Amino acid sequence: MKPLKVGLLGLGTVGGGTFTVLHRNAEEIRRRAGRSIEVAMVADLDVDKAKQLVGDTGARIVPDAREVIANPEIDVVVELIGGYGIAKTLVLEAIAAGKHVVTANKALLAVHGTEIFKAAADKGVIVAFEAAVAGGIPIIKALREGLTANQIQWVAGIINGTTNFILSEMRDKGLDFDVVLKEAQRLGYAEADPTFDIEGVDAAHKVTLMSAIAFGIPVQFDKAYVEGITKLSSVDITYAEQLGYRIKLLGITKRADKGVELRVHPSLVPAKRLIANVEGAMNAVVVQADAVGATLYYGKGAGAEPTASAVIADLVDIARLHDADPQHRVPPLAFQTSTLRDAGQ
Ligand code: HSE
Repeated sequence: MKPLKVGLLGLGTVGGGTFTVLHRNAEEIRRRAGRSIEVAMVADLDVDKAKQLVGDTGARIVPDAREVIANPEIDVVVELIGGYGIAKTLVLEAIAAGKHVVTANKALLAVHGTEIFKAAADKGVIVAFEAAVAGGIPIIKALREGLTANQIQWVAGIINGTTNFILSEMRDKGLDFDVVLKEAQRLGYAEADPTFDIEGVDAAHKVTLMSAIAFGIPVQFDKAYVEGITKLSSVDITYAEQLGYRIKLLGITKRADKGVELRVHPSLVPAKRLIANVEGAMNAVVVQADAVGATLYYGKGAGAEPTASAVIADLVDIARLHDADPQHRVPPLAFQTSTLRDAGQ
């Protein structure tokens, strides 16, 4: 079978990780996908840096992402630029050009997902985003496929590594908030704008996407209640500890009598619960569903190779579905905007 040709937009931490893992595990990935997955083009403003990483693999490096989108040989565009600005324009242009899209951009999808998924459904292409929520944990696949027989009752998770790292370090080492935030930035966990992490916005982006999949509703970030960890002090953490609790920033979405709850806020979690013991930058998501009961998903929520693992899982799905009739390939990987419903109905 013909290889799946990929164009990477952005060769930063996740782009670099994707490139590295695709090459290191090329043979396993080819066997599982039924065809090889080749990075044919890379767009990055820093062409010299990109050259060092790409080496002699044959991928063409260009400074302009539109060259990738315009290339008829490219089957899939992987958007790893981030943000709502140029990333949105490029994703919509890629869809209009008939390319499938893989993205780790939770902010973009949480805010503009309805428009993007509709454009993809109209064009018969896939927009896949496993890497956008909880990094390497395959939670999108679990919600959409593994738990597909269930009515999901609620989803609750630690889905921002930066804030979990800050809360863990404040509790364990008695360090100040600002000191630990700087360390989280140094370790590469934090967003370009760290207020997205500490004010709960990043977690709200992610829980919005989980909610849409779990309950079949449109992405509605503007309806989320969002509260971060900036008002917490070491004293709160110590008192919680003395009372037998841990403070965790949870993203929660829940089927309610009318509609769906969508919220992010610091929560008191009994110390004996598994999720209370998720430390550092790790992520964990609990899903409560009617048939299976509670299931727990745990792993690295950020970082080059964990996030690359999720990006490549989407590429493998697309490699398997690429030659299928568009009507049969869209449902497993994108929202069907025509069948969105309110969970309360
Ligand atoms: N800033 C995010 C976090 C990165 O801390 O979890 C992964 O989405």
